[in-house]
This record gives sequence, C-alpha cells and structure tokens, in this order.
Amino acid sequence: MECFCIDGGVPLSGTVSIDGAKNAALPACIAALLTDEPVILHHVPQLRDVSTILYTLGALGRRVVRHDDHVSIAAGKGLSAKADAYSVRQMRASFLVLAPLVARLGRSVVPLPGGCAIGARPVDLHLEGLRALGARVEERDGVVTVTADRLTGGRVALPYPSVGATEQLLMAASLADGETVIENAAIEPEVEDLVDLLRKMGATIEMNERTIRVDGRSELHGAEHTLIPDRMEAGTFLLAGAITSGTVTAEGLRSEHMVSFLEALGSTGADLEIESTAVTVRGPTRPRPVEVMTGPHPAFPTDLHPPLVAYLSLAGGSSRLTESVFEDRFAYVDALRAMGAQIDRDGRTLAIRGGDSLRGRAVEATDIRAGAALTLAGLAADGYTTVTRLEHIDRGYSGLERKLRALGARIERSQG
Ligand code: EPZ
Repeated sequence: MECFCIDGGVPLSGTVSIDGAKNAALPACIAALLTDEPVILHHVPQLRDVSTILYTLGALGRRVVRHDDHVSIAAGKGLSAKADAYSVRQMRASFLVLAPLVARLGRSVVPLPGGCAIGARPVDLHLEGLRALGARVEERDGVVTVTADRLTGGRVALPYPSVGATEQLLMAASLADGETVIENAAIEPEVEDLVDLLRKMGATIEMNERTIRVDGRSELHGAEHTLIPDRMEAGTFLLAGAITSGTVTAEGLRSEHMVSFLEALGSTGADLEIESTAVTVRGPTRPRPVEVMTGPHPAFPTDLHPPLVAYLSLAGGSSRLTESVFEDRFAYVDALRAMGAQIDRDGRTLAIRGGDSLRGRAVEATDIRAGAALTLAGLAADGYTTVTRLEHIDRGYSGLERKLRALGARIERSQG
C-alpha cells in the first residue's frame, strides 16, 4: 500500500507556488455543461477529483481536452441526462451536474452522493431549491430524477449558506425563465469564482452580501477563465512552515480570501508577512493556544480545522476549536492522539492541551484534510511517521510530498 514516510523534525524553509482551487475547479468544469460552446479553464489543479469530474463530463458526452493546467470542455455527440453512478458516488461535487442537465435537457438523473468521513452531508437544500425553480424532483432507490419543461425563476431562502446548494442554484437560475433571488447564499471565494465564470458565459448575476439575484437567460455562450488559487492548499503549507518552526513563503495565493485563517495563525505567535498574492510565515518555537470556531466564509474555514489542530497539539497551553459546519469531522483525532496529542472532544468542540512534542506513528488518512493534518503532524514529530490511504490526500493535493520535500522535509512516497 502506498504511504508517505516522514522523518520529522526538520524546520521547513523556502517558497511554494499555490495551485488553482479544487473547490473552484469542480463547479467550473460542471458549469461548462450550460453551453455547447467551448469553455476553457486555466490554473486547473492536477488532482484526482478533477480527473473524476472530467471523466463524468466525458461520460455525459462532452469533449474534454486537458493539457497541463489547462482544460477545454466542448460539446461532443449530444448530451446525456444520466450521470455516471460511479463518479457521483466517488465524489459528492459531481451531484452539481443535476442543475445544468435539467436546465439544458428538461431532465436529469443523478445518484445521491455517498456520505463521507465528515458527516451525512444531505442534499435536501439542493432539491428544495430546484423545486422552488419549478422542477419536479423524485428520489427512488438512491437516484434523483429531476424534470422541468423549463426552469422558472423563483425565490430561495437557504436555511444554511450551503456552498453546494448555492452553486447548484446559481447554475439552474442562469438558464431559468425570469429572475431568481437566492437569500442566505454561500459567499465563499469559490462561489464568487463560479459567478465570475457564469457572467463571462453571459449570465446576469448580482451579488449583494448573501443575496444573489440571477436574471435567467435562454442560453449561455462559451468563455475562457482562470481559476482562483487554492486557499486550503495555501493554508496547509503555511501551517507546515509554522508547525516545524520554519520559514515558508506561499506565493500565487489571494490573502484577501484567507483573512480569518491568517488572523488565527498570527494569534498563535507565528510571524506573518502578508502581501496580496504571497504570505511568509516564520513559525514560533512553540505556538500560543487559541480559540477558533469554524463557519461559513468569512469565518475560519472548516477545511483548515484538522491541519490547525495538528499545529495546536504543540501549543504552550490549551486551545479550543468548535467545528460548526460538519457534525463529524473528527475521525483524524484518534490518530493525532496516537502521536501523543492530548485532545478531548465534547460534541463539536475539541479541547487541545498542547504538549512538548509528538511522536512518529503509523497513521491512516480518513479524508483529504485529515490526511493533510497527519502529514503535518509527522513533519513535526520525533521519529518516523507513515501516512497511508493516500488516495484521500491525492484527491485534494497535487504532489504534496514533492512540494514539502522542496521545502526541506524528509518525506517520501513509497509502496509501504
Ligand atoms: C463544500 O462542500 C466543499 N466541497 C467542502 O470541501 C467544504 O468543506 C464545504 O463546502 C464547506 O465549506 C466542494 O466545494 C467540492 P456545504 P459542500 O453544502 O458543498 C449541510 C474539501 O475537503 N448541508 O456548504 O458539500 C452539510 O451537511 C471539501 O475540499 C445540508 O444539510 O458543503 C454540512 O453540514 C470537504 N443540506 C453543511 O451544510 C444540503 O443540501 C455545509 O455543507 C447541503 C448541505
């Protein structure tokens, strides 16, 4: 089985370039279904999840060409209304094909996405929203069938600013007849990047804080778009510099997308030099404890919760982290405890009593960000750490070990 082999204790130093954002790339690729004209995307990260979505689009009949970090998606021989079960079950984001297919074809048939290691992750807000736009939605044997002669604009008040539901409804509304108003919408940078692409495709969209107005069009046209950088990859590398008391510059990022994360990192005593497209972190000898609550943007991002907890496991004092977005994003905690972290869980809140050191162990990744957290812990631990289940890490990070090695880490990917 493939694993990372890490010999910890090396302070990282150097500069790492940040790739395009996974969570912008996935909806952007799917948005290409909204037109038969070519959509060309740049700065597309070379990730397993991107390969999965491009496979899905190919199976739907699109012609997909990928060259380095450029992807072009164009019409092939027709467009199928039935999404490939394997890829939707592989990756929740594939569920976003529902809206473009029903908007273009009047019908779409998509399996319910699998849950995953961070909670049940229902899609009720996606389906309720499509009903509000005039679609008929049926669920049977784990498959959703949505039909509508033509989607009609409507008003959708989201009870929770769901990223996926907002993206699903943005794509549906772009081709609906009339105006749609989405209230309490997600405003993550990746959602804004999708709005940017849809506007380039001819959609009329107005964002005013959490209220989004979409004036539906009868059709959209092709576009060319460069994706925003991945704030989760950037945060992961800055934490890698901090946890090893090193000096790391992450360049090609957008610091305005990372304000709450950078505030939290700074309050641990890490010395930060913040520019608009680059951040340099000088890790403290020992982090100061902090209190953090994750939440919808602009709050602290849930995807950087596990890597932050790995770092706080070495703080001089007790920290608290409350995970308000997902009900069970704690599978990684047991592995951190095995490495010596002193963490108590009470519901959605962790109390992290910082210790002097972590010890290398054989640990297993349970999801993308858990894998990142355990890799960071290994970089700081005494002795050897092996991290298995790299298929999770490769979903969200392109060449993580290669980039860490370039910063001085003693890390190899090997057939363990
Ligand atoms: C997106 O997931 C991201 N994935 C996640 O990143 C990220 O953690 C999450 O947003 C929150 O920022 C992609 O963009 C591909 P949500 P998504 O809908 O859209 C509940 C990573 O590691 N909910 O905002 O699934 C849901 O259960 C991944 O890159 C409903 O109840 O997130 C969760 O508790 C992990 N009903 C909360 O809302 C619904 O219909 C947030 O989910 C939809 C969501």
